[in-house]
Amino acid sequence: MEKLVIEGGHKLHGEINVCGSKNAALKIIPASILSKETIVINNLPAIEDIDRSLELIEYLGAKVVKGKGTVEITTKDINKTDIPPKIANKIRASIMFVGPLLSRFGEANFPHPGGCVIGAGIRPIDFFIEGFEKMGASCKIKDGMYQLRAKELLGFEYFFAKPSVTGTESLMMTAVLAVGITILKNCAMEPEIQALAEYLNRQGANISGAGTPTITIKGVASVGAGKFKIIPDRIETGTFAIMAAATKSNLLIKGCLPEHIESLLSILERIGVNFVTGPDYIDIKASEKIKPYDIITHEYPGFPTDLQSPYTVLMTQANGTSLIHETIYDRRLLFTDMLTQMGANITMCDPHRVVIYGPTKLYGRKLTSPDLRAGIAMIIAGLIAEGETQIDNIYQIDRGYEAIDQRLSSCGAKVTRVNI
Ligand code: EPU
Repeated sequence: MEKLVIEGGHKLHGEINVCGSKNAALKIIPASILSKETIVINNLPAIEDIDRSLELIEYLGAKVVKGKGTVEITTKDINKTDIPPKIANKIRASIMFVGPLLSRFGEANFPHPGGCVIGAGIRPIDFFIEGFEKMGASCKIKDGMYQLRAKELLGFEYFFAKPSVTGTESLMMTAVLAVGITILKNCAMEPEIQALAEYLNRQGANISGAGTPTITIKGVASVGAGKFKIIPDRIETGTFAIMAAATKSNLLIKGCLPEHIESLLSILERIGVNFVTGPDYIDIKASEKIKPYDIITHEYPGFPTDLQSPYTVLMTQANGTSLIHETIYDRRLLFTDMLTQMGANITMCDPHRVVIYGPTKLYGRKLTSPDLRAGIAMIIAGLIAEGETQIDNIYQIDRGYEAIDQRLSSCGAKVTRVNI
């Protein structure tokens, strides 16, 4: 087991490169099952969730050849259609394998997926099951495993009761090889969905409308080989921008797409953070005084729930009162209890809203990372804090941020990984 030890009070400087998007890569790996030819993926982040996803596709029988930041996957010889609970418990994205398996082999068996504990109870998968059933599949539950069977998948129409990122991606992928036309309505519009559609279209799929609320998929008989470069991680980009603002640092964030985090950038501008953007960079300038500003998390292009916890830390340093309203997940504000232990002045109104009275000095503490995004927020808090902060359960952070200790240390932070 490892933990991170952070010596607070050091500013960041220089430049940091953004890695490939976790939430794009986690869909492109299972999408490779739709083709019997070789798929090459570049700009792959070296993170735990990707390792688990590759472990799963290898378990199913695919050939996986890994290089630095790259992987070649050939799924021609896949000979299993079950997703083992051991892997499914670790990543929610294991659910993304179900549609492609059903589409190619007419069956898939899987347990309820795991991942971050950020919603009330178990994160639901009803949109997935409803969609598969509408395409003609049957679904039974036996010994804790869902069992999907289908002789043939047919085009269908589906209206998402609320926009779901993985729900949209899953039904979109599964419809690629279905017979006839599928129309998905009230879809999520995240850039990762558009990237997945572009990738599948390059292989021969016929998808239009990805990135808008209505996606149309005209079924094709097969899809071919593909070479794909993962888009930059917009959440990592936004996290570094917030980290630089919170630590009052000059930091050049490179290899990113600022257009994917417009909602955050518009707010950084309002709260007095100085920065300039280019097509693939954001140059943050040290800003001494941060103003408070309320946020409401929202589906893309609104303020991403995945940036809520870093932003909450930033607001502890703002000059005044701010309200954070988390609308997507019920448990994503619970980590603020740890900020309070560090000295922040935060009132929880209900599970979805906290009020932050800033600015407050933070003090180093021993903390445990409850989930991926709260984990990186703890790191930001540790960088601001006086004294030493120790963070346990860093598997949660390694799930989504590549070598975060080394990358932050190379731009001036004092972050050390130690064995416990
Ligand atoms: N929902 C349902 N039924 C479903 C699926 C979702 O009711 O079948 C609900 C959820 O309970 C939630 C809402 O729909 O209230 C939105 O959830 P969504 O399905 O969009 O979330 P997700 O697809 O499971 C993805 C990302 C999350 C990110 C959210 C929101 C991946 C692998 N995960 O999750 O990323 O927070 O979209 O943008 O793409 C993270 O990276 O830390 C992370 C949690």
